Amino acid sequence: MNRRTWAEPFKIKMVEPLRMMSPQERERAARAAGYNTFLLKSEEVYIDLLTDSGTSAMSDRQWAGLMLGDEAYAGSANYYHLEEAVRGHYGYKHLIPTHQGRGAEHLLSRMLIKPGDVVPGNMYFTTTRAHQELAGARFVDVICDEAHDPLDESPFKGNVDVTKLRALIDRVGAKKIPYLCLQCCVNMAGGQPISLENIRATSELCHAHGIRVMLDATRAVENAYFIQQREPGCSRRSIRDILLETCSYTDGCTNSAKKDCLVNIGGFLCVNDDELAEEARNLVVLFEGLHTYGGLAGRDMEAMAIGIGESVQQDHIRARIGQVEYLGDLLHRAGVPIIRPVGGHGVFIDAARFLPHVPRDQFPAQALAAALYVDSGVRAMERGGVSAGRNPDTGQNIFPALELVRLTIPRRVYTQAHMDVTAESVISLFKEPERVVGLRFTSEPKYLRFFQARFEPVEGEGVLRSVARAASGVGV
Ligand code: F0G
Repeated sequence: MNRRTWAEPFKIKMVEPLRMMSPQERERAARAAGYNTFLLKSEEVYIDLLTDSGTSAMSDRQWAGLMLGDEAYAGSANYYHLEEAVRGHYGYKHLIPTHQGRGAEHLLSRMLIKPGDVVPGNMYFTTTRAHQELAGARFVDVICDEAHDPLDESPFKGNVDVTKLRALIDRVGAKKIPYLCLQCCVNMAGGQPISLENIRATSELCHAHGIRVMLDATRAVENAYFIQQREPGCSRRSIRDILLETCSYTDGCTNSAKKDCLVNIGGFLCVNDDELAEEARNLVVLFEGLHTYGGLAGRDMEAMAIGIGESVQQDHIRARIGQVEYLGDLLHRAGVPIIRPVGGHGVFIDAARFLPHVPRDQFPAQALAAALYVDSGVRAMERGGVSAGRNPDTGQNIFPALELVRLTIPRRVYTQAHMDVTAESVISLFKEPERVVGLRFTSEPKYLRFFQARFEPVEGEGVLRSVARAASGVGV
């Protein structure tokens, strides 16, 4: 890849030193964390690719914006700046700030779902589905089949399968479907985008049946970049223009501002409907805070307003996605099985193919994430059987088609050498996969178990056999 096409459009003004540890120290840390990368201390991590959520580096403008925080309880000036930024970039009529994305999901599910309802979506996201289920709905996946095939090179693997959606509406009836949840750059599918054409067709079908379409706009800016690069007729359009069109087909959105909007905390709910906005403003007071701050400090809203403006700049988004593609290309060229095409926010390793000797009930992705940490201090995240949880009716483990390790790239944080170190470590494990040992639960929480579950290796001393040989050069 030609680096000039994506080189960073910023320079570094402040650094955060990192601690280097040996593989043996890391094996001890991994054991203490129950081989769950969520339970590691950040200080024990060298390159933190757990998530792109709330991990962005803010710009000097955003930091300056923090100093302009108006911390009034009601009617903060920063709220009005945020409202202007959200209207100008996402286009919705009403803004209800929340402490993060799941706060918005909670309000939305509570307002619209009745027990026994069905909520279709283009694959699920963990917190989104959990809130739908808590409100009494059943989630039904209507994503296209290509999304489940890691090798399929289709450009828009996040698309809704409109035939599946139509069949669902015929089967359960539109009255049982309060809304469809449409996710941009589908996280669990590997950050795969959805096309404008598909968004249009999906919302036409829903609206014809009186079903609302609610966008999960968390990565809608990254989605807009893929539309610009891949969808016929869009190459000359600005990211902002594509983003506005994306939102224009929908009735509102939930958004975790911790991703595209380049802040460390924040989120929002948007709706166009006046009555629904009224109800959301009533509810937000109970669960988050007054409707002009929604659980955020004024300064957080100011940083978010500035971040939204920066997020749609062409240089920024090109470098952001370019860095992810750079890491993906290094792994792909070495033969590592990853989800293709490389998605927007990270590189997703197909752990089932990477570790063919580890059966699904020994959680290959969980084991690979733990082994990668022990090898090089790179912290990744499991997105497979552990994240999928259990079937609420049968209590059986769900083993989704995709058993993935996510190398999630924070925005504007790591350098190309960090990407190189990550690739070296993954490739070294790929050359000797039998060194990685499967895991079993030692404790399993009831909700969103992947966050706090603990494991032990099914045999031997650790998750990576003969750690001493793991001298991959980092922290040794
Ligand atoms: N929707 C999507 C698509 C997400 O990826 C997330 C969070 C949320 C909603 C919830 O937002 O965390 O602000 O409450 N994803 C993070 C991740 C946690 O690591 O992928 P939140």
